[in-house]
Amino acid sequence: MIDPYEFRRVLGHFPSGVTVVTTLRPGAEPCGLTVNAFSSVSLEPPLVMVCVEREAVSHDCIIEYGRFAVNMLTDEEGERLARHFAQPQVGDKFDGVAWSPSRAGVPILDRALAWVDCTVVKAVEGGDHTIFIAEVTDGDAHEGHPLVYYRGRYGRFDP
Ligand SMILES: Cc1cc2nc3c(=O)[nH]c(=O)nc-3n(C[C@H](O)[C@H](O)[C@H](O)COP(=O)(O)O)c2cc1C
Repeated sequence: MIDPYEFRRVLGHFPSGVTVVTTLRPGAEPCGLTVNAFSSVSLEPPLVMVCVEREAVSHDCIIEYGRFAVNMLTDEEGERLARHFAQPQVGDKFDGVAWSPSRAGVPILDRALAWVDCTVVKAVEGGDHTIFIAEVTDGDAHEGHPLVYYRGRYGRFDP
């Protein structure tokens, strides 16, 4: 079996965008984490998936609330947001972060390049992560450039 260090090194060669997945805690305070394991799944119905570590605080928030939003980050403020939301949940991660609720009440980051709001339709065990498959109910996109993550570093998309 491949060892975890080698697994990360090899998989790091696949570039991805970077997102912040946001949801609500049982007390309705916002909760969220940085995620690059995000993908579209289906067009009809419109499905996406995110993989969230079972140990993450946000994991149980998604299970309990049953909804989340995926905020795709820009190359301008995105790196700061990605680093911030990758920290363990101590205090209020949304303190000093501009956001407003979606129509369904899920936090949407004001500086997101694009976002989708979705309802969980299936939670599948995937090793130490849970794969959340969710139906997209709302979304929007703005002008700008995406933040890219490649071999552990943040960068820009330069076609
Ligand atoms: C670039 C980047 C991508 C990440 N992608 C994921 C991911 O796809 N799934 C995940 O569970 N954690 C991912 N993480 C780690 C979480 O953001 C991190 O564990 C976070 O502290 C969890 O926050 P929480 O415990 O407050 O929910 C990523 C971190 C970084 C920096």
